[in-house]
Amino acid sequence: MKAIIPVAGMGTRLRPHTFSHPKVMLNVAGKPIIGHIMDKLIEAGIDEAIIIVGYLGNMIEDWLVKHYNIKFTFVNQEEQLGLAHAIWMCESFVVENEPLFIILGDTIFDVDLEPVLKSPCSSLGVKEVSDPRRFGVAVTGGGKILKLVEKPDTPVSNLAIVGLYFLRQAGTLFSCINHLIDNRIRTKGEYQLTDALQLMIENGERFTTFPVHGWYDCGKPETLLSTNEILLKNHPPSKQHSGCIINDPVFIAGSAVLENAIIGPNTTIGEQAVITNSIVRDSIIGDDARVTHIMLDRSIVGNNASVTGNPNEINIGDFSEIRLG
Ligand code: G1P
Repeated sequence: MKAIIPVAGMGTRLRPHTFSHPKVMLNVAGKPIIGHIMDKLIEAGIDEAIIIVGYLGNMIEDWLVKHYNIKFTFVNQEEQLGLAHAIWMCESFVVENEPLFIILGDTIFDVDLEPVLKSPCSSLGVKEVSDPRRFGVAVTGGGKILKLVEKPDTPVSNLAIVGLYFLRQAGTLFSCINHLIDNRIRTKGEYQLTDALQLMIENGERFTTFPVHGWYDCGKPETLLSTNEILLKNHPPSKQHSGCIINDPVFIAGSAVLENAIIGPNTTIGEQAVITNSIVRDSIIGDDARVTHIMLDRSIVGNNASVTGNPNEINIGDFSEIRLG
């Protein structure tokens, strides 16, 4: 089955890391965000991916082609006119009467997709949220979706559309997107996928929902770190490094060099990173980074970046109490 994955966003909330990398290439728990998404898709039987790229898209393309042996098509998004418009650009690569899966590329999911992809009717991944204003939402009843609304100003449902869409027949979606574009129907200034799906419902398409409990945001530094922590929980214990203390769970790349370090818990250390005389916990350290004489907590250190602290030299008498910042 084919999947469309839009990954053209700039990830501005993750600057400075996204100045040099597209957001989906940021490392979390030992591989790029897009790697976690692809692994789930391939496990569920997706054998062809249409990737909508934009900002620094070549980096995504190179990495995917090098790491996965499935058919990829890369579509370049030049204008930001909304999610439905981005999907619309893929029309010539899908087959009208075949099913299609769409997954938004900015979030890592933990859900068994296999039964979803076998579902006899179209289905959307949903999760109950306390504040649905920044999501598309689904109003359900009688075992199906009655209505979809994109980022409602007045609350109609707490069931957020999380970014996983299974469509029984690609063609019906594309005819609804074409209708939006031909008639310039926009919501909040953009061609919305939610509006195209709502049109499908109005035309008689039956949609169900499937619950997505594990939904890990990677949009901000603090959520990238908490997602790192959650994903590392499934990681096997690390091998020991002589002269160091490793507090699992951690991901330590095979080529990383550790000397007199205490690493973890909840820490990812990239390839060829060198950590010396340091304590690093709840952090992500990039490839080829250097960390020396410092204690880091809830920190993100980019690739090739270097952080050095000063070892303190003190000479203090009995009963002194010193607090060093
Ligand atoms: C998009 C969709 C929205 C969905 C959300 C999930 O919004 O338009 O319906 O709920 O993704 O993250 P965006 O986050 O791009 O504004």
